[in-house]
Amino acid sequence: MDTKKIRIFRAAVWRYYRMHKRAMPWRNTRNPYKILVSEAMLQQTQVSRIMEKYPVFIKKFPDFRALVSASPRAVLIAWQGLGYNRRALSLKKCAEIIVREYRGILPRDPAKLEKLPGIGKATAGSIAAFAFNAPVPFIETNIRRVFIHFFFPEKKSVRDEDILEYVAAALPRKKAREWYYALMDYGAMLAKTISNPNKKSAHYSRQSRFSGSDRELRGKILKFLLQKKSMTFGGMSKMLREPIPRVKKICAALEQDGFIKKRGGKAGVGVVL
Ligand code: ADE
Repeated sequence: MDTKKIRIFRAAVWRYYRMHKRAMPWRNTRNPYKILVSEAMLQQTQVSRIMEKYPVFIKKFPDFRALVSASPRAVLIAWQGLGYNRRALSLKKCAEIIVREYRGILPRDPAKLEKLPGIGKATAGSIAAFAFNAPVPFIETNIRRVFIHFFFPEKKSVRDEDILEYVAAALPRKKAREWYYALMDYGAMLAKTISNPNKKSAHYSRQSRFSGSDRELRGKILKFLLQKKSMTFGGMSKMLREPIPRVKKICAALEQDGFIKKRGGKAGVGVVL
């Protein structure tokens, strides 16, 4: 490992952060619950969208116990507009486990965090860093971009395993929280200014087309069912201009994932049909 290069790299990232750090409400708190909620939202949704939804969500469900007491329907309604609704149900399940098994206190050990529903290595590392300032090396999309840009500029296919060594070497032991904010801001800047270095990641995959996809239709059906108590498959088929068999197929998948219940030609969210 080239320690001089690491020193130069650190200085560049800190310099950028001093001048351009992004203000975000979840960066002003160390409350593990609030940080868990923000990281669940940040997994697959743009910061600008979360800026609107996060404060409303926190006001409605201010702590783990509030989320446990809430109905899945209420949580899904508060999640509307963020997409990938599965995350809302996982978050509620996390709250249930934390209250039941950890007496309402979020563990700081990333290995324990990773066992919670919907929490992978990146989210576990983020929570450890942002809630507890723990110096845990991890990679997410912005961080990957920064390290490929600085340390693998010529390489075609870069593995996360190799990037992780640099992440660990660069990580300041006592300032993990601020350092990761700085890396993420730098990565977001790179995404806007130069062509995406993540295309060179061995783990890179482009997001598949949304328009016309099953994922889009899932979102639309769930939205309908959160507005109305329940709907028939025929009714949904008309509203969505989609054939009944496709609507039924998507509803079966939504039921499988615990979003809705079906009975006698109708579907609904958290309601007795
Ligand atoms: N600040 C805190 N968590 C973040 C994240 N996951 N992405 C961008 N900025 C953040």
